[in-house]
Amino acid sequence: MTEVERSDAFILFGASGDLAAKKIFSALARLGSSGELPEKLIGVAKSGWSLDQFHQRIRESLNANSPGSGNPGAEGLCKKFSYIDGDYRDDATFRTLADHLRDVRAPLFYLAIPPSFFGTVADALHKHKLTRRARLIIEKPFGHDLQSASALNRLLHSVVPEERLFRIDHYLGKDPVLNLVYFRFANSFLEPIWNNHYVESIQVTMAESFGISDRGAFYDEVGAIRDVVQNHLLHTLSILTMDPPINASAESSRDEKTKILKAIQPIQPANLIRGQYAGYLKEPGVRPHSNMETYAALKTMINSWRWSGVPILIRAGKHLKVSATEILVRFKHPPVSLTNEPFPPGSNYLRFRLGPDRVEIGLGTRAKRPGPAMVGQPLELLVMRNQSGEEEPYELLLGDAIRGDQSLFTSQDAVEAAWRIVDPVLNHETPLYEYPVGSMGPQEADALADLPGGWFDPSGKESNGLASKIAS
Ligand code: BG6
Repeated sequence: MTEVERSDAFILFGASGDLAAKKIFSALARLGSSGELPEKLIGVAKSGWSLDQFHQRIRESLNANSPGSGNPGAEGLCKKFSYIDGDYRDDATFRTLADHLRDVRAPLFYLAIPPSFFGTVADALHKHKLTRRARLIIEKPFGHDLQSASALNRLLHSVVPEERLFRIDHYLGKDPVLNLVYFRFANSFLEPIWNNHYVESIQVTMAESFGISDRGAFYDEVGAIRDVVQNHLLHTLSILTMDPPINASAESSRDEKTKILKAIQPIQPANLIRGQYAGYLKEPGVRPHSNMETYAALKTMINSWRWSGVPILIRAGKHLKVSATEILVRFKHPPVSLTNEPFPPGSNYLRFRLGPDRVEIGLGTRAKRPGPAMVGQPLELLVMRNQSGEEEPYELLLGDAIRGDQSLFTSQDAVEAAWRIVDPVLNHETPLYEYPVGSMGPQEADALADLPGGWFDPSGKESNGLASKIAS
């Protein structure tokens, strides 16, 4: 049952942290401007700050995120935000918090803190009877493998039930990802061909042209598979391949996503190539002989009537030649060619570019070259193009959590199903190949893409059978 009670207080643990400064304050300011925020906002952190200093931090963060805008929402946000400076291990912090929440019915607690503190904070909230009607938002990573994810779920469930737990995967709140759902189910021409009779292969690529910046210590514990494959990319794949939900409720779309995640074959070590960019070991915070991957490419299948036999390739990496998140669904070629021309591999496809610089849906076709001969050329029809894919998902997701709408949050079943897919390779010592900064990853990954057309090049240039001409 969907809970309809609005949260009447928003409590941010980790209020002095990076995520708050980079994403959360801006999202709250925009929600404030549209009247969506609860009356009471409380920041909690151990920074030694006064209330004024905390407000200063909010203003500075908003200015850094949208310089020159004057940030009309800043003062309204500061007016609502109080601040508790305290250690999460100190009972006094929670006594003060309980005091602040005396008149509150349904608080929303946001744990934007390292996962090692989830248990401490959740237990303390419970002990101070603050969780009776509370909602809890947590940030990924939800565990570091299947076993620890299940343990985390048990711990959180001892404090709040699943219908009041909100696991944020910001990819699920991205507009181009939401459009993937919309586009699939708002167009009748797609469904008849969206299966193994017509689809030859699926590729999902998340390439980033930058490295790990100042996140060395975090990243070196996590690596590419846990950082983006287990969550963002497998969930995006689930949206691309799930059956139509039976209605618009949160529950039915979450059910379909979980069902397809359960059908994805766990990755075998032989179907994984891990890479590390040259120079990674010199990054601050990285262990001297770290074996952590900054690139992962893998091949799997979905064991369902719809998708059985269709190879699925996923790859993600840092310091690649381009920043692009792109899905390519290649169709089988027609059974017979009416001319003497063979069909080039992978010339019919649907391409979804999810960002970051632009959002596109392209349909790869072949059309006749003008002139007397029956000779074809590749032509990509651009179904849609928006300049930027950088819409802010946090505003949408936090607004939903305040209203108690779980549609875009990850369920326990889905989290555990996604861990089950990557679990066989997490603690298995697979080889690690170094790749040059600015490349498309280690060449060893080419052997994984043993399908017509091979890996596609998401840099937008003609390659691997992708059409070069774009009609807009
Ligand atoms: C985060 C990962 O979850 O997603 C980062 O920790 C990654 O490593 C980021 O860069 C990508 O998200 P976006 O929205 O910038 O594409």
